[in-house]
Amino acid sequence: MSSAPARPEPASGGGAGVVPRHVAIIMDGNGRWAKKRMLPRVAGHRKGADAVRAAVRTAGELGIEALTLYAFSSENWRRPADEISDLMGLLRHYLRSEIDELDANGVRFRIIGDHSRLESDLVRMLEEASERTAHNRGLTLVIALNYGAQDELVRVARSLAADAKAGLLDPAAIDAEVFESRLDTQGLPPLDLLIRTSGETRLSNFLLWQAAYAELMFVDTLWPDFNGDALRDAVAAYGRRERRYGGL
Ligand code: IPE
Ligand code: IPE
Ligand code: MG
Repeated sequence: MSSAPARPEPASGGGAGVVPRHVAIIMDGNGRWAKKRMLPRVAGHRKGADAVRAAVRTAGELGIEALTLYAFSSENWRRPADEISDLMGLLRHYLRSEIDELDANGVRFRIIGDHSRLESDLVRMLEEASERTAHNRGLTLVIALNYGAQDELVRVARSLAADAKAGLLDPAAIDAEVFESRLDTQGLPPLDLLIRTSGETRLSNFLLWQAAYAELMFVDTLWPDFNGDALRDAVAAYGRRERRYGGL
C-alpha cells in the first residue's frame, strides 16, 4: 500500500482560533419561526432574508473567504406553488436591493445548482450579478439554488463519461482533483464548517462531496433569529475544534 495520502489535507486546519476559509449554512426554520408567531410562512422567509444580510456582513468582517448559503434545494419544488413563488420573489427583491452594496463592498457573487430551471428573468439577474462582481476580491457569496448534491454529482459523472466516450479523457486519469474541478463549487476554498440551524440534524442533500471533512455544527436557533453574534459564536466554536483528517 502506498504511504502517500490519497489527497493532501486542506491548508487550513481548525483549532487555535483559526477562522474557517469556507463556511456553508443550511438556513432552516423560517416556517417554524413564522408559525410560533401565528404568521404566514412567507413572513419567516422575509425575516430570513434579513438574517442573510447579517450573515454576509459578519462573514466579511470575520475574514471568511467564502460563504455558501442553501437557499432552495432541488427537493424544495415539492412545496406548494405559492410558497415557491414567494421564495423566488424574495430572491428577486434581495438581488435588486443588495447588488449595488455587495459590489461596493467587494463581494463576489456566485451561484451553484442547476439554475436553468428557474424563471428566465431570475436567471438573467443571477448571471448579471455573477458577471458584474466576478473581479471583486472580498468575500465570495455563493447562493445554492435548485441545488442538490446528488444532482451535482450526477452532472459531474455525466460530463466525465461524455468526455471519456469522445476520447478526450482517459478514465484512468480521473482522480479526486479532476472530479472536484467539475463540481459546481470548483475553485472555492475547501469547505471548513457546515452549519445547520433549527435543530434538524441532517444534510438534506447539501454539499455531500464537499462536506467529507468539514466540521458539522447543528444549532437550535431558527434561521430568522441567527444573527451576526450567532455566526461569530459558531466560528469561535470551530476555532476550538481539532481536525485530524484521519491522522493523529
Ligand atoms: C428554510 O426554512 C427555507 C427554505 C427551505 C427555503 P423552512 O421553510 O424549511 O422552514 P421550516 O423548516 O418549515 O421551519
Ligand atoms: C433544506 O431545508 C433546504 C434549504 C434550507 C434551502 P429543508 O427544510 O428543505 O429540508 P428538509 O425537508 O427538512 O430535509
Ligand atoms: Mg425546513
